[in-house]
Amino acid sequence: NDVKLWGGRFADGPAAALEKLSASVHFDWRLAPYDIAGSRAHARVLHRAGLLTDDELERMLAGLDRLAADVADGSFTGTIADEDVHTALERGLLERLGPDLGGKLRAGRSRNDQVATLFRMYLRDHARIIGALIADLQEALVGLAEAHPEVAMPGRTHLQHAQPVLFAHHVLAHFQALSRDAQRLRQWDERTAVSPYGSGALAGSSLGLDPQAVAADLGFEGGSVANSIDGTASRDFVAEFAFITAMIGVDLSRIAEEIIIWNTKEFSFVTLHDAFSTGSSIMPQKKNPDIAELARGKSGRLIGNLTGLLATLKALPLAYNRDLQEDKEPVFDSCDQLEILLPAFTGMLATLTVHRERMEELAPAGFSLATDIAEWLVKQGVPFREAHESAGECVKVCEAAGIELDELTDEQFAKISPRLTPQVRTVLNVPGALAARDARGGTAPSAVAVQLAEAKADLTVQ
Ligand code: ARG
Repeated sequence: NDVKLWGGRFADGPAAALEKLSASVHFDWRLAPYDIAGSRAHARVLHRAGLLTDDELERMLAGLDRLAADVADGSFTGTIADEDVHTALERGLLERLGPDLGGKLRAGRSRNDQVATLFRMYLRDHARIIGALIADLQEALVGLAEAHPEVAMPGRTHLQHAQPVLFAHHVLAHFQALSRDAQRLRQWDERTAVSPYGSGALAGSSLGLDPQAVAADLGFEGGSVANSIDGTASRDFVAEFAFITAMIGVDLSRIAEEIIIWNTKEFSFVTLHDAFSTGSSIMPQKKNPDIAELARGKSGRLIGNLTGLLATLKALPLAYNRDLQEDKEPVFDSCDQLEILLPAFTGMLATLTVHRERMEELAPAGFSLATDIAEWLVKQGVPFREAHESAGECVKVCEAAGIELDELTDEQFAKISPRLTPQVRTVLNVPGALAARDARGGTAPSAVAVQLAEAKADLTVQ
């Protein structure tokens, strides 16, 4: 005899095809520990409302403990006939306590408020796990910046040489993006720390149960939801979580793309550690940046999880609709993928070899100091429009002659503009160009040292 939660009004059991379609137990089983925690809290409010005696509460909690242990060691699992984790655990409780006591726990709650609550609990735990993994990655970035404090590299826009920057400055830019992701997780958590338990199917309960007590019991700092319809029907907390994890994926993909480029023969800026790269089954010489490529690829999957979920939520009428069962797999997947990806990604960065000579050789190439000529002229009182023009002329002459800016002769400079005295050479070197940009956020070693110190302080509060 199947334990169905709605047997009373049905003459026939469900068709096998329906059962197969309806089942979520194979993916929502991971909510089991949270469901049992919810049941403990619910038993306590039933007791407080006078619906369980002291003795019944004690036996109920003991039964839930036994069930939790059996779930933990795998001796109790859900089956497809159970449909979902909530029904499976109800069966487990009935098997352990008998129908008289086991059948009392369902009063005043619905799978609708249960699942909305447990899902929040699960995601809050994983937000913390992912936050800690991001902090590890940020630490690896700080390590890279700290190990190479004064290495110059070509800063790029449009992937073209733009202006020289410090490698540490570049690395710490990625740190900032990840800091905002970590902050998003913390702010999301604050918004999500509100419990829907007690909302029932949608309208609340007539049994005198206290939703605030359940919320406090389950660690929801924000108390219980203000509106039971919203509590059971809203999933913006899921969509926002999916956005944050997609954003993390996108931020990783931007680091990944650079690692892939830097690791090419043509760039030769970095070498990946053997333990964090892969070989080719046919080409013996190959050493591939697969971790970075998987990060790039998985970012697409994380974006897909977000967009799929939003499409599911679009135009759903209030309150609960079964469509909402489709809310879990995408974000469970987003958690799983990031929790697999981040440790490998961090390892790849923490073991990276940086080729200083190569970066510094290319830092001034491609006329990346042309802006410095223009700004030097501005400091001599030349309007920027004219300064830009003269510096551009220098580039044109160099390009035609196949030389770099510092190879122009005094005569060539003077011919381009009488304001271009030999003094201009003082800014035609990378260390000078870097050091000159010493305002907050800039690329001067002194400014980057401040960024590094702030990054380390940021990590300690996270
Ligand atoms: N398994 C469902 C879900 O994940 C919860 C059950 C609610 N089912 C229902 N018929 N009201 O959304």
